[in-house]
Amino acid sequence: MHPDRVLILGSRGMLGRAWTGLLTAHSIPFDALGRDRLELEDMDAVRALDVASYSHVVNCAAWTAVDDAETMYERAHAANAQAVGLLAEACAQADTRFVTYSTDYVFDGNADSPYRVDHPREPVNAYGRSKAAGEELLDRVGSGGSPWLCIRTSWVYAPWGKNFVRTIAGAALARPELRVVNDQRGRPTSAEGLARSSLALLRADASGYVHATDSGECSWFEFASEIVRLLRPVEGVATVHPCGSDEYPSPAPRPAYSVLDISETESLIGPMTPWQAALADVLRRLEP
Ligand SMILES: NC(=O)c1ccc[n+]([C@@H]2O[C@H](COP(=O)([O-])OP(=O)(O)OC[C@H]3O[C@@H](n4cnc5c(N)ncnc54)[C@H](OP(=O)(O)O)[C@@H]3O)[C@@H](O)[C@H]2O)c1
Repeated sequence: MHPDRVLILGSRGMLGRAWTGLLTAHSIPFDALGRDRLELEDMDAVRALDVASYSHVVNCAAWTAVDDAETMYERAHAANAQAVGLLAEACAQADTRFVTYSTDYVFDGNADSPYRVDHPREPVNAYGRSKAAGEELLDRVGSGGSPWLCIRTSWVYAPWGKNFVRTIAGAALARPELRVVNDQRGRPTSAEGLARSSLALLRADASGYVHATDSGECSWFEFASEIVRLLRPVEGVATVHPCGSDEYPSPAPRPAYSVLDISETESLIGPMTPWQAALADVLRRLEP
C-alpha cells in the first residue's frame, strides 16, 4: 500500500530522522512528532493522537536505554508496550496502517543460527522484556491478518545520534588502543537503509512480524575493527583488541548471539545491503 500521508513518531531519533529524510526525498507528505510533542509514557496523550488523518503511522519512538530499563522498567514498559498497544488499536479502528519496531533482544541469544521470525520470545534483559510485552499487545490487535507491521532490527547506527559507530570513530581518534567485546554477534543496521527497507516492505504489503537488518554478521570487535580500518587513512587511529564481555560488566545482560534471519524479507524486497558497504557509506557522512 502506497503511503500518501504519514505520521512519524520519534522523529528526532536515529531512525525517525532517517524516515523524515526518506519521505522528503520521495515527496511523500508527512507530519513528524518528537518527544516534546508526544510523550509515549503519557497514555492520555497517546489516546488523544489523531491517527485517522494519516494513511500510515510509523512509530520510531521507544525507550532505547537498555541499561536504564533494568531500574526503570515501568517507564520502559509504558513506552515500549502500553503505548504501542494503544497506537495499534487506534490505527486498526481508523484503518490507518501502523508500523512499529522491535528488537533482536526479544530472543535469548543462545542460538547458533539466525533467529527466524516465529522463534519464541525469551528476552534476557528488561529492555527486551518491555519490547516483547509490546509484541504481545500487538498480537491481540486484529483478527485474522495483522493490521500492523512490526519490524525487528538490530545494532542500529546512523551518521547522527548516539550509536556505536560514532562512539568508536570518536574514541579511535582520541586513544591509541581500544578493547572491544568479541563474544557477542549480531547484524549491524544502518538507520537509513532500515527506513528504505521499511518503505519497500510497506509497498510490498508486508504485515505482521518481519526482520530487517543489513546482511552479514559480526562481533562488536569485528564491527569496530572495520570502522577503524575504514578510518585508517587518517593518522593516529587506534588499534583495536578483542576482549570478553566480562571486561565491561553492564547492568543489563546482553544476548551472546542475536543474528536475525532476514531471508523472508529478502524474498519480498530483494537483498539487504552488506553491513560493510552500509558502514562505509555512513562513515563518509558522519556528523561531528
Ligand atoms: N538502536 C538500536 O540499536 C536498536 C536495536 C534494535 C531495535 N531498535 C528499535 O528501533 C527503533 C528506533 O530506535 P532508534 O535506533 O532510532 O533509537 P533512538 O535514536 O534512541 O531514538 C528513539 C527516539 O525515541 C524517543 N523517545 C524515547 N522515549 C520516549 C518517550 N517516552 N516518548 C516519546 N519519545 C520517546 C527519543 O527521544 P529523546 O532522545 O528525546 O529521549 C528518541 O528520539 C526503536 O523501536 C528501537 O527499540 C533499535
